[in-house]
Amino acid sequence: MTPTPKIVFQNLHIPNIKKLAVYREHGGYTAAQKVLKETKPEDIITLVKNSGLRGRGGAGFGTGMKWSFVPKDAPLKYLLCNADEGEPGTFKDRILMEQIPHSTLEGMIIACYAIQCPRAYIYVRGEYTESIEALEAAIQECTKNNFLGKNIFGTPFSLDIHVFKGAGAYICGEETGLVTSMEGAKGQPKVKPPFPAISGFNKKPTVINNVETLAVLPWIILNGADNYKKIGTEKSPGTKLFCLSGPVKNPGTYELPLGFPLKDLIYDIGGGLTGNLKLKAVIPGGLSAPVLTAEETMTMTMDFESLAKVGSMLGSGGVIVIANDQCMVDLLSVITYFYKHESCGQCTPCREGTGWMKKVVDSILHQRGRAEDIPLLQDISTNMMGGRTICALSDAAAMPVKSFVTKFKQEFEYHIKNKRCHL
Ligand SMILES: Cc1cc2nc3c(=O)[nH]c(=O)nc-3n(C[C@H](O)[C@H](O)[C@H](O)COP(=O)(O)O)c2cc1C
Ligand code: SF4
Repeated sequence: MTPTPKIVFQNLHIPNIKKLAVYREHGGYTAAQKVLKETKPEDIITLVKNSGLRGRGGAGFGTGMKWSFVPKDAPLKYLLCNADEGEPGTFKDRILMEQIPHSTLEGMIIACYAIQCPRAYIYVRGEYTESIEALEAAIQECTKNNFLGKNIFGTPFSLDIHVFKGAGAYICGEETGLVTSMEGAKGQPKVKPPFPAISGFNKKPTVINNVETLAVLPWIILNGADNYKKIGTEKSPGTKLFCLSGPVKNPGTYELPLGFPLKDLIYDIGGGLTGNLKLKAVIPGGLSAPVLTAEETMTMTMDFESLAKVGSMLGSGGVIVIANDQCMVDLLSVITYFYKHESCGQCTPCREGTGWMKKVVDSILHQRGRAEDIPLLQDISTNMMGGRTICALSDAAAMPVKSFVTKFKQEFEYHIKNKRCHL
């Protein structure tokens, strides 16, 4: 295996890297100082556009492009760092926040300067108490040292960053749900357009970026767009944090170049499956990503395009390994429970569809299944997809169902016919 370049994890092994002094000793905040002292905001946006950086929160939207939508002349704008990390199978942002919080703060300074925004918030999942503590301590250190606050680094640019604690709802990770929650209301997504870049938090232009997206920025500033593009694939440049979970010998979060073979992630880095287990399937990009069969897994590379080509997605980078001792009907029952519980209830296809899918899957699981339940699940999931709802949770809930009953149909049929599991 070729050595893999590290960007967001490059200093992770250094003791006390969460301390400002140690972070600075290892080059921390030189990128932010360079930007504020030597570069025009519009040039940062161009650089980030040229780097090809795509958002790491799930959708993979061009980061520089997103920033360029913010009206330049707006008197007040916001940057919200999305640290809700609610997608099951995803545990990457917490590592960045807990262990190297200054890299996210430095990325935020760069992003805020690029869009000329004086106030930013980090919306952290409420259960992430260690992330909250680490970020608050880092913000305090920065404020004391004039790395945040008025005229930072002695430049005309001022910036305050605050931590906002979420209350544990998956839907508050959706960008407009996050905005509504921060505005003090129930965290329900809003109809787009208007997009947050035009009218977001408190109706002001707002950029929402994921923690990992922001943490990449200092490296791009110091090393340049061309060097960034040398890593990964042409359309998916850079590295990505992959969270490997399930019955593998070495589960964990790994930084790898985009385009990395999924088989090598599971068998080389992950050490393969535990015991005598055999690979049955993989959910490659967080729970919402359509499942891959073992056969598809063997030839898959982990980038936006390759996964989209087989109808799945890179999503948040949560790679969930499923072994041959797992019943797919049982697993789908757990998955459908999650989405039923997390649907905010505003849209009929999502509110009704998530509950209905859960009921049908459970009736198959508990020996009450009928032959027509498989096409019924296909039908319900189809009707929940394709932009018929306010946000993408409906699609996210429907995709696992559709892919499970298509690719593992024989397990559903076995349950229906024999009134028991094949295992
Ligand atoms: C139901 C749902 C949950 C989401 N949860 C998260 C999340 O926890 N963290 C995150 O960064 N993005 C999440 N997203 C994606 C955000 O809406 C948004 O695209 C992202 O924060 C943008 O940041 P990026 O451009 O840096 O990727 C979620 C989207 C949906 C539809
Ligand atoms: S799709 Fe679901 S979660 Fe999203 S706004 Fe509609 S009901 Fe709420």
